[in-house]
Amino acid sequence: MQIRVVTSQPWEVATDLLVVPFPEGGPTDEAFVELDRRLGGALVAYRRVGELSGEPYETALVRRPDGPADQSLGAEWVLAIGSGDVDGVDRQRILRLGAAIQRRLAGRTMGRMAVWLRQGLAGGPGLEPTDVALLLTRGLVEGSYDPASIYRGAGRDTPPPLDEVVLVAPEFEAGGLLAAADRGRIIGEGSNRARTLAQRAGNDVSPEVLADEATAIAKQAGLTIEVLSPKQAEKAGLGLFLAVGKGSHNPPRFISLRAGEAGRTDARGRLLALVGKGVTFDSGGISIKPSDRMDEMKMDKTGACTVIVAIATAHQLAPDVPLLAVAPAVENMPGGGATRPGDVVKALNGKIVEITNTDAEGRLILGDALTWAERAGATHLVDVATLTGAVERALGKLVTGGFGTPQAWWDEVAAAGERQGERYWQVPLVDDYRRDMDSWYADFQNSGSADGSLVKSGLFLREFVTRPWVHLDIGGSGYLRKPTPWAARGATGVTHATLVELALRGA
Ligand code: BES
Ligand code: MN
Ligand code: ZN
Repeated sequence: MQIRVVTSQPWEVATDLLVVPFPEGGPTDEAFVELDRRLGGALVAYRRVGELSGEPYETALVRRPDGPADQSLGAEWVLAIGSGDVDGVDRQRILRLGAAIQRRLAGRTMGRMAVWLRQGLAGGPGLEPTDVALLLTRGLVEGSYDPASIYRGAGRDTPPPLDEVVLVAPEFEAGGLLAAADRGRIIGEGSNRARTLAQRAGNDVSPEVLADEATAIAKQAGLTIEVLSPKQAEKAGLGLFLAVGKGSHNPPRFISLRAGEAGRTDARGRLLALVGKGVTFDSGGISIKPSDRMDEMKMDKTGACTVIVAIATAHQLAPDVPLLAVAPAVENMPGGGATRPGDVVKALNGKIVEITNTDAEGRLILGDALTWAERAGATHLVDVATLTGAVERALGKLVTGGFGTPQAWWDEVAAAGERQGERYWQVPLVDDYRRDMDSWYADFQNSGSADGSLVKSGLFLREFVTRPWVHLDIGGSGYLRKPTPWAARGATGVTHATLVELALRGA
């Protein structure tokens, strides 16, 4: 994909398709009037009959009028896309606009596109033209994503390949736009890579295959990788991790990746660790899940896929920032060797855990992974996991729930998310609920009563950290059951961009 930035007028750009953001109420500026004149007044007419209102992501496709028009309009097609209320234009809106543009073109063959970066797009305070270029381009790339093509190949739902994207910015300072757009492309490509890995089927991606994929990514990105077999994990003392993997014929793999040499810290004296839940399939184990929607549990490795790709993306954009990624990979199955409810195991940090529910397996493997990350030198931790169904009941699919301590670290992570147009909501760590996880036999159990179960998942993980830590639960936001104008169904890639943004701050 070739990206160019031009400062010519939008009608001057020779391309297959010119995209025109169309605010609510319809634009009235001179440049728009001039463009529409060259379109034979089509957009104003569309607006008059209600075909185009400017509502976010609503689109209208118009063909260049016949005649000696080649001189007056360089684009053969014009796509107007609603950008909504000008005051409501924020980072998420711009990201989604980019994605919605590409999704609107599914099944079409227009490979060369120009997007008019209009003044109204860099509306609110703190939204620079470079932010618009980054988020819009990232959106175009993420909007090109079609999960149906993973096993079937490209089809009717596949947006056209983006051969060329021209950012048309006559009203913006052009400096820096190209570099920003390129960053957006790289982050979008990473997100798509994580999405594909996350939603490949359970019979395709076992823990071993996930480790192989991580090895290939590490090699390509210039990261060091370590993969522990069950024997090595046992020697290391990863008791919680091993307890989850025991019920499957597919042996677990404990994956960790590193950017930079061991012992190094970033410009602020930090080492950020990204920790991701890698359950390649979650049947629930002996505490087996109901069959309804159990197929979705192939996505239970999404956190691991996200952190494995995020460290590679961050390393590409900021090669000097040292980073860690830890991705425990297991299949949670009810085989003959499986952990039983009531089993008591010892964690890497020495705590004794009673496993009262084998379906609360994510927190087990993450507990050991967080300890591992601290021992590997992490000063700051963020984990990403499809940890609970409760988070989706609480916040739905468009908001990621999370926990963090101390507050300043949560705020930093949330701010990085805001910059990348990703939405988070902090859930409190209610100390009083911790007693509900007391165990007769162990230091605590892995699942208390159902009330406040989301909070308890956070309290459990907190037992395994001693440094600044944030937990992001993508149990709802990690995948969509139905498509939206800006995203395909399936894995969303959410948090990848946030993690990359966060890592870049250490540069
Ligand atoms: N992977 C699931 C959580 C999940 C469920 C994510 C549905 C997305 C959609 C997790 O391992 C799990 O089973 N959690 C249990 C915890 C409970 C047993 C305390 C849950 O949420 O029901
Ligand atoms: Mn589970
Ligand atoms: Zn799970």
